[in-house]
Amino acid sequence: MADRKKIVRENVDGAFFVDTTCIDCDTCRQIAPESFKDAGDYSYVWQQPDSAQARRRATQALLACPTGSIGCDSNNIAAEVMDDFPLPIEDGVFYCGFNSPKSYGGNSYFIENAGGNWLIDAPKFNQHLVKRIEERGGLKYIFLTHEDDVADADRFAEKFKAQRIIHADAIQACRDAEIVIQDASAFADIPDGFKIVHTPGHTKGHMVLLYRNKFLFTGDHLYFNREEKHLEAFRDYCWYSWSEQTRSMKTLIDFDFEWILPGHGQRVKLPSAEAKQQLVELTREMAAR
Ligand SMILES: [Fe+2]
Repeated sequence: MADRKKIVRENVDGAFFVDTTCIDCDTCRQIAPESFKDAGDYSYVWQQPDSAQARRRATQALLACPTGSIGCDSNNIAAEVMDDFPLPIEDGVFYCGFNSPKSYGGNSYFIENAGGNWLIDAPKFNQHLVKRIEERGGLKYIFLTHEDDVADADRFAEKFKAQRIIHADAIQACRDAEIVIQDASAFADIPDGFKIVHTPGHTKGHMVLLYRNKFLFTGDHLYFNREEKHLEAFRDYCWYSWSEQTRSMKTLIDFDFEWILPGHGQRVKLPSAEAKQQLVELTREMAAR
């Protein structure tokens, strides 16, 4: 619960505020950029929402914030907005919300699929979300992009008897995972429309998931730079190998996708040809860094 007595000084006056417990994870700025901005090491309210839609998005940000650092003096619509989650993206793909501080506020996603539903990385084990997933038929798989964003995956796996998928080089984060990937290119036991790609770089065992040649779940491998409006990789948060990340980024050029859905960083939809072109430019630029 955010505390008005700990308010950050940059907030503009009004009902919504951010307090000093903010960890600068970017979640609120992705959901409601018209209300939240980056002060450097934390977010702040730069503009109070001035429409019903903006107020709804600011409330969604309040609910998704991993550290409960966003407050609102008169938030009587929070219960109603709770029902927005998971937030639809497109074609049965959703953003879960309820980002977890265990993954430093990483985003997680839900896929409703006739062959079994998927969770991509894990949010907080929030009862509202659990109920919504239950109503949609539960979970068959929990795909873990890498060791940083596991959060409450074990609780979701236990609740839904789901199979957790993780790479062998990330197994330390989920030792009892049901499916351990040794060689993603050889892993064939996967429903139609899904493809797992090993993308070492950010971490050694990092993987991305491609769904229907349209949705690429990228973990901390690839995101959209909101300010400069192009695809980007986190150079400062590359824990394993930048040259490996550059090499594995190149392998993604061969695939078609429109949505880039990261753990950290902005999600975006681009025309497939533009996504490919931006990836070509990014890999060229990464090689020079
Ligand atoms: Fe990470």
